[in-house]
Amino acid sequence: MSSPANIFGSLVVQVLTLLLLVRPIISGPTEAFDPREASIDSVHNALFNHLATCRHVVSSFISRIEEFNPVINAIISLNPEALSIADEMDARIASGNVTGALFCIPVLLKDNYDAVGMSATGGCRALENNKPMVDAPSVKVLKDAGAIILGKTNMHEMALEGLSVSSFGGQTVNPYDHTRTPGGSSGGAGAAIATSFAILGTGTDTVNSLRSPASANSLFSFRPTRGLISRAGIIPVSFTQDAAGAMARNPKDLAVALTVMASIGYDPTDNTTALMPSEVGRGECSASLYGNFNLRGIRLGLLDGFYNHTASAETTPVNGIMANIVSKLIAAGAQVLNITDSIYNAVAISATLDVQTYEYRELLDAYLAQPHVGGAPRPASFGELYTGGDFLVIPSQYPYINAAFGSSTSSQGYSIAQRGIENLIQALHTTFTQNSLDAIIYPEQKNLVVKIGSPSQSGRNGILAALTGSPVVTVPVGFSHPSGDAPLGVPVGMEILGRPWTEDLLMDIATYISELVPVRRMPVFANMTAEQKHYSDVPVIRPNSENIHPSYPLGVL
Ligand SMILES: *[C@@H]1O[C@H](CO)[C@@H](O)[C@H](O)[C@H]1NC(C)=O
Ligand SMILES: *[C@@H]1O[C@H](CO)[C@@H](O)[C@H](O)[C@H]1NC(C)=O
Ligand SMILES: *[C@@H]1O[C@H](CO)[C@@H](O)[C@H](O)[C@H]1NC(C)=O
Ligand SMILES: *[C@@H]1O[C@H](CO)[C@@H](O)[C@H](O)[C@H]1NC(C)=O
Ligand SMILES: *[C@@H]1O[C@H](CO)[C@@H](O)[C@H](O)[C@H]1NC(C)=O
Repeated sequence: MSSPANIFGSLVVQVLTLLLLVRPIISGPTEAFDPREASIDSVHNALFNHLATCRHVVSSFISRIEEFNPVINAIISLNPEALSIADEMDARIASGNVTGALFCIPVLLKDNYDAVGMSATGGCRALENNKPMVDAPSVKVLKDAGAIILGKTNMHEMALEGLSVSSFGGQTVNPYDHTRTPGGSSGGAGAAIATSFAILGTGTDTVNSLRSPASANSLFSFRPTRGLISRAGIIPVSFTQDAAGAMARNPKDLAVALTVMASIGYDPTDNTTALMPSEVGRGECSASLYGNFNLRGIRLGLLDGFYNHTASAETTPVNGIMANIVSKLIAAGAQVLNITDSIYNAVAISATLDVQTYEYRELLDAYLAQPHVGGAPRPASFGELYTGGDFLVIPSQYPYINAAFGSSTSSQGYSIAQRGIENLIQALHTTFTQNSLDAIIYPEQKNLVVKIGSPSQSGRNGILAALTGSPVVTVPVGFSHPSGDAPLGVPVGMEILGRPWTEDLLMDIATYISELVPVRRMPVFANMTAEQKHYSDVPVIRPNSENIHPSYPLGVL
């Protein structure tokens, strides 16, 4: 085992090495930077070889957002400071002061992260003026590592479902199939990163929300072990289930995001971070990422209960892609064990053990009451928000919000569910130990990501990790057959779930799989260069809040 913190050291060395290779400037950079499928390495190569300035890099992503965002509606707002920060980065390159693994790396934040200078709306119209005056700890470490916050992304309103539709942001569209949702709730980040609007996108995950958009947009994501990354400064849903993480187009960039976000360490304002073992916090284990890792002898449990074996146009492609990846894993030396215990039934687990409705109201009240979250007018509590009429709750979630009005962590049902969660954690450890497993695999979603206008994002399997606090890395494993709506097919992703604090092993397996089945593709609609503009100021981008399917009426419960 090794901690993400150790990878950090080697990345700093990598940046410094690049600097030593910097050639003298013969003439100013002339070429515009091509952001399509760009990586941290490709940005740094362009910067440190003087092929592009940081301003060019940031402008190229903004040009792309201006041109292609009207199709997918993934962006809620851009950071007005992004270009001036890029100019500061260019001054630092000129003076030889380049530090940080994310130096000049454009990052988009899900719009439930607090970042100074931008509203944190959660996608909700009532929170348009919610102005945090302090960065979330996860945002602060990204900035400290050199990241440029490019803007905020749409999400399913308040992160309560997976369709990525909201009263402030409208409906985000899947870049691979414009008739489908991008998964969710971090669907704006998923669609945006898939379309190369930035290098990294942050997300949150209460049940599925970092994994469903990764799966639906051919991306890599991590949901960390509970306690690895502070959730402070993020609009909350559930103390038990919430996690903060990121999405990327390749596993190497994802590992950097994980390392940087985990560098917060212990945060007294999120007491789950005290669960972190000291060797993880101190980064004392040795990093194995990019080492001589292979799958020989690796034992993977395959959760049969997380499949839908009923053949249909929506399920058969997922089952076929999973069968293909399993045969490739076996051919590469892994042992795959069929786990058929009846406890692994995602629908049943969600129905009995999900504790969001008990925790949401108390946590949202506490978030809205913080002195450093200002802006007016805005609701001061859960009650004010959900009686003010300026919100979107989809009909399948009406019972959820109505239950949240009346339930609390003092409810009897809460203690019963928490005992059930303890049992589930025990059952999962038993499965790992009895079968000597290194990780567990299953499709993120039993069916293809649903169409726009659907009643819910059905068939997802995220609940197991959400309740047990297990880490998961999601990897793209294929596309359904191409169709008129989906020229490449619809992306399908697989979850790799580990024991607590095994992020490094999961990242190694994910990296290996990314080479074994290199399926990630850019969406066809945006496989062209945007007209490169030179901006004096960051343009104002507004979401299209009009394109909400008629089956989702606003302000109704
Ligand atoms: C390098 O830049 C950082 C960030 O602006 C600044 O805090 C630091 O003082 C600079 N270091 C030097 C040696 O100029
Ligand atoms: C941990 O923090 C939560 C949320 O702030 C709080 O409800 C809980 O009482 C804390 N637990 C302990 C043991 O302090
Ligand atoms: C796992 O076992 C179940 C029940 O016997 C079976 O239906 C399923 O096909 C098996 N899965 C694999 C991948 O062998
Ligand atoms: C399984 O797939 C079938 C066909 O798409 C669908 O009717 C059914 O509701 C699905 N079952 C579950 C549990 O998702
Ligand atoms: C983009 O389109 C070109 C030309 O059609 C094709 O050759 C290339 O593979 C595409 N790139 C990606 C990443 O899909």
